[in-house]
Amino acid sequence: MAFELSSVVPWGRTLEEYKQMFMLSKEDLDKRIISFGDGPASFNAEMNESGKQVISIDPVYEFTGDQLKKRIDETCFQVIKQTRENKANFVWDTIRSVEDLQEIRMKAMRHFLIDFEKGVYEKRYVAHSLPDKLSFVYNEFELGLSSHFLLLYSTLGLDFHMAAISEMMRLCKEVRIFPILTLNAKIPDFFNELLEMLNQNYKTEVQKVPYEFQKGGNEMLVIKK
Ligand SMILES: C[S@@+](CC[C@H](N)C(=O)[O-])C[C@H]1O[C@@H](n2cnc3c(N)ncnc32)[C@H](O)[C@@H]1O
Repeated sequence: MAFELSSVVPWGRTLEEYKQMFMLSKEDLDKRIISFGDGPASFNAEMNESGKQVISIDPVYEFTGDQLKKRIDETCFQVIKQTRENKANFVWDTIRSVEDLQEIRMKAMRHFLIDFEKGVYEKRYVAHSLPDKLSFVYNEFELGLSSHFLLLYSTLGLDFHMAAISEMMRLCKEVRIFPILTLNAKIPDFFNELLEMLNQNYKTEVQKVPYEFQKGGNEMLVIKK
């Protein structure tokens, strides 16, 4: 896989954040879940510790824990600096300050790193790039998630999004994507066209959620068979 670690800026969120971003109910947490572009989030580790099943997919899982830790240590300062420069673009209520953000993200990523190699062995972390086909079978998962990957990385384009979501929908009865904003805090240009294409085969719905850190980023896209 031609994926350069030097092009990766690892950044990871927590189970509590995933619960709010995706409005995960008690019943949802008991579902068989696959989470795409999970990077160094602590979602999988925390779910596993409470006896729940999650498989995380990300190209960065081809690297070792030591390589990922080194890259996190190298890039954390850069992300925090950029956030400080763009502070007005974020909502500072639950996360109260840039220092608070750094502490929460580093804690989540340390939690991920402790779990990572055990999780690779248990096949909970799978190194893979969408839209390539995964080895799981049709409807193997009840719920698929994408946090801060699809739509946020809008420069990947409409064709990439359609191909990636088609593969996710092959594997999952339902997919939830958060946020519906690009890195520049805009609705992706191709969003309406993407919805039209998805509506030919699936039911889509935009739902408000209780999580908002990027200003205006408080909606998720739900896609069902
Ligand atoms: C901003 S991080 C989000 C991490 C995590 N989901 C969270 O919200 O904390 C985006 C992740 O998408 C992953 N990614 C990029 N391209 C991908 C692809 N083609 N298929 C799957 N994941 C990809 C990156 O490696 C990165 O870990």
